[in-house]
Amino acid sequence: MKSVPELVEGGAVDLPAVMAVMNESFDPRYGERWTFAQCAGLLPMPGVWLTLARVGDAVCGFALARIVADEAELLLLAVRKDAQRHGIGRRLLDAFLSGARSRGAEHFHLEVRDGNPAIHLYESAGFTLAGRRRDYYSGDAGRTFDALTLAKFEPPRR
Ligand SMILES: CC(C)(COP(=O)(O)OP(=O)(O)OC[C@H]1O[C@@H](n2cnc3c(N)ncnc32)[C@H](O)[C@@H]1OP(=O)(O)O)[C@@H](O)C(=O)NCCC(=O)NCCS
Repeated sequence: MKSVPELVEGGAVDLPAVMAVMNESFDPRYGERWTFAQCAGLLPMPGVWLTLARVGDAVCGFALARIVADEAELLLLAVRKDAQRHGIGRRLLDAFLSGARSRGAEHFHLEVRDGNPAIHLYESAGFTLAGRRRDYYSGDAGRTFDALTLAKFEPPRR
C-alpha cells in the first residue's frame, strides 16, 4: 500500500464502489456477502452509517454500522485483498468504535463466521465471544456455517 488511505463517511452514491470491495474481498464459498439491494435498503435507515477507506477516488475498504439506543453493531467490514494486512481493517474498526461512542454506544457487537481470520482482529480490539448462531451463513454447495456473536461493553464514564 503506497498511500495511507483517508477514512471518510460514505453514502448511497458510494455503494457501487462498496460492492466492488465486498465482491472482491469476501470468499464466495461462505455466503457472508451482502447484496446491493440489502446495502441500499439499510443505508437510509436511522442510525446507520458507512465509513470508507479511500485513496483519492478509489475505495479500498469500508465499514457499515448501525446504532439502536446504546447498542452499536458492526454489520460489515472489508478491505480489498491487495490492501489487506496494512492496518486498514484495524483503522476502520477503531473508527466504528469511536463513531459509535460519539453516538452514545456502550455495547458493541458483531457477527462473524466461525473460522473467519477477522476474529483475531476483533479479539485484539477487546471483543469476546457472546454466542453462536448455528447454520447462519448459507455457503455454496448447500453448506452452512455458524456465526459467532462477539461483544464488547464499555460502561459509561462518570
Ligand atoms: C478482516 C479484514 C477486514 C481485515 O482487514 P486488514 O486491513 O487486512 O486488517 P489489518 O491489517 O488491520 O489487520 C489487523 C490484525 O487483524 C488480524 N488479521 C487480519 N487478517 C488476518 C488473517 N487473514 N489471518 C490472521 N490474522 C489476521 C491480525 O492480528 C492483524 O494484525 P497484524 O497484521 O499486525 O498481524 C480483511 O481481511 C477482509 O476484508 N476480509 C474479508 C471480509 C471479511 O471477512 N470481513 C469480516 C467479516 S464482516
